[in-house]
Amino acid sequence: MREMMHTEFRKRFLEGATHQFFAPGRINLIGEHVDYNGGHVFPAAITFGTYMLVRKRDDRMCRFYSINFESQGVIETSIDRLTYREEDGWANYPKAMLHYLMSHGVITEGVDCLYYGNIPNGAGLSSSASIELVSGYAFNELYAFGLSPLELVKLGQRAENEYIGVNSGIMDQFAIGMGMKDHAMLLDCETLECEYAPFKLDGLSIVIMNTNKRRELADSKYNERRNECERALLNLQRELEITALCELDVETFEDHRHLLQDDTLYRRARHAVTENARTLEALEALKGNEIERFGRLMNDSHRSLDKDYEVTGKELNTLVEAAWENHAIGARMTGAGFGGCAISLVKQESVDRFIEKVQSTYLKTIGYEATFYVASIGPGVHEIIEQVKGETG
Ligand code: GLA
Repeated sequence: MREMMHTEFRKRFLEGATHQFFAPGRINLIGEHVDYNGGHVFPAAITFGTYMLVRKRDDRMCRFYSINFESQGVIETSIDRLTYREEDGWANYPKAMLHYLMSHGVITEGVDCLYYGNIPNGAGLSSSASIELVSGYAFNELYAFGLSPLELVKLGQRAENEYIGVNSGIMDQFAIGMGMKDHAMLLDCETLECEYAPFKLDGLSIVIMNTNKRRELADSKYNERRNECERALLNLQRELEITALCELDVETFEDHRHLLQDDTLYRRARHAVTENARTLEALEALKGNEIERFGRLMNDSHRSLDKDYEVTGKELNTLVEAAWENHAIGARMTGAGFGGCAISLVKQESVDRFIEKVQSTYLKTIGYEATFYVASIGPGVHEIIEQVKGETG
């Protein structure tokens, strides 16, 4: 694949790339829709992700090409015109990162960039945050802006929020920027304190199940959920001194139920509060090697996202329920929902049979196939050094 990328780079940009980078996608084991409510999340970087080849130019042009979006061709701009343009499509992600990085130093030369990603787009595995972080990391190295990994993570979130206009939390960028091989990360989204927990489960595999459903309106529904949580918080603040929903434990929350007359707002807030508690409990379960308990918490998380938060839908429910019926240790949707992917923990020896069974139920119920991947937990964004020397030298 990398050889093909180098060939493509020369074809598009006439000269060879000088550097190569990789940023993963992510799964979230548990802790969904709580990052923007000041809660705890438990994501992990996966070995699928985005590869980027890059070379500095000697003029002020910037050119972006993605093998995944071949039909869009090479997207061109200059370092003096990095503002958002709808017609630039996916290239707005690297443009955003360079745009914000430029306030950390003066640059006089543009770049040629080529991307290839093996994370399915729009599947809720954070392909966009992966492009943001691989680009931010690459530009930071290339131009020596000197930002720390955490600053790049925050810049990625800013790109998403302010430049792209999706009001997402920090989980995706954090998992991708700070991931560690064979470790999940319990992240407190209020303080950004992170505890790495080994997640290599003997005899178990993580199976990613992609609904292949187009995530139409996902961004607007996501923003709508955020807005509902903000309204619930305002109501609770009439009697409680809190700044985020996840500061509440379940008991205190239920004691103040009278502040949430609107049933929808009550259920949205209940999801946030109970999900945060489940996530903390999941870390305990993992530390105690109680994997069945971990699985049950994943299942409860899915139910809450279905009934209280209403972000699952028929496709995700079909996959997750079929996984439960076929002896998954735990299964739930992962990411924003509204389509996208679910994950399940499955005994290694029964993975093939599991996939076959779940696929058959899905096809019968939904009418088209799901896609399955067995995931490994890999490192966060990094430069790939040896391969570039070997292949371009
Ligand atoms: C998306 C967002 C994250 C997070 C999840 C839901 O992936 O980008 O910030 O809110 O949805 O947990």
